[in-house]
Amino acid sequence: MKIASYTAYGGPETIAFTDAPIPTPAAGEVLVRVRAAPVTAGDARLRSGKVPRGLGLMLRATIGWRRPRVAAGWAFSGEVAGLGAGVSEFAPGQRVFGLTGFKGGAHREFLVIRADGRVLPLPDSLTHEEGAAFFFGGLTAAEFLIDRARLQPGERLLVCGATGAVGGAAVQIGRHLGARVSATASPANHPLARALGAGEVTDYRRMPPPGPFDVILDVMGKLGWAGARGLLAPAGRHVQITADLWEMLGATLRPRREGRRIIMGTNRDDRPSMQRLVALHRAGGYTPALGPVLPFAELARAHAIAEGFHKPGNLVVTMAAV
Ligand SMILES: NC(=O)c1ccc[n+]([C@@H]2O[C@H](COP(=O)([O-])OP(=O)(O)OC[C@H]3O[C@@H](n4cnc5c(N)ncnc54)[C@H](OP(=O)(O)O)[C@@H]3O)[C@@H](O)[C@H]2O)c1
Repeated sequence: MKIASYTAYGGPETIAFTDAPIPTPAAGEVLVRVRAAPVTAGDARLRSGKVPRGLGLMLRATIGWRRPRVAAGWAFSGEVAGLGAGVSEFAPGQRVFGLTGFKGGAHREFLVIRADGRVLPLPDSLTHEEGAAFFFGGLTAAEFLIDRARLQPGERLLVCGATGAVGGAAVQIGRHLGARVSATASPANHPLARALGAGEVTDYRRMPPPGPFDVILDVMGKLGWAGARGLLAPAGRHVQITADLWEMLGATLRPRREGRRIIMGTNRDDRPSMQRLVALHRAGGYTPALGPVLPFAELARAHAIAEGFHKPGNLVVTMAAV
């Protein structure tokens, strides 16, 4: 089978394909034939080492000083190709999707994963491409809107950067929760933002959206507190999904400002969070928007698109012959 890996921190040219034997599932494990996997903003950041200001040292201390010592690929959708001893909850040929998470390992043609880990049956309502795209932005949007900002029906939500993986999920989930959703996007993406469920859509390069908002989801952190404070209602929440070290320290030391709250951090990617997102999908609240779909062999091109932070929806590679 083909496996993609990162040979160094750097551009998409640092991605290499190697051949490896198809693994054998141990007791309690499932062998998955991967059909599709997303190429996310997170994948591009781990490969390039380019993270918000002040976080580079922390990244390298965690995943490697000279090269990213993580396997490529964060999530997958595929079919059960083999079962280890004692696995009864999955059947051969069954469609499944899941997460390999931060340490990666989904950008390959087969993978093994614990049956009681981050793998779930893929609902019939999702294609493999949608299954691959399902978790990255969805888990982030769900946790920050539901658990952290506690978005309420009737509240006004602004999603800044509303058509990528996180923003596209946030618009849908915000609507499903009963919020009135406004969005910012570049003009080419305005129809997509509306199709996802945003009412008012403005161009973030030209003018600020008309507030006040109860919750602002600042996907790229470009508004920052300085840009968000004038748009927030009393008791409003500014959720900054992308933040540098100094903004994180500031939010930790002083999360409440002028009656408003600043929320930052990283989201969970455990099984209960995944199951909740599936429940949201089944209730009609979330289906990931698909953007470019490329063959696995074009993984480097997919990374080049992902690291621009302007892709519409989610970017997915599909595994066939490389
Ligand atoms: N905190 C966490 O746990 C967490 C989890 C997941 C992701 N993230 C971070 O969240 C960010 C977004 O991830 P993603 O997967 O959603 O990326 P993405 O799919 O590339 O989407 C990026 C979005 O940001 C918009 N955008 C780009 N430049 C902008 C600007 N100057 N002002 C306003 N909006 C702008 C884009 O809009 P247009 O295309 O219309 O320009 C697009 O909607 C990344 O920095 C990622 O690392 C954080």
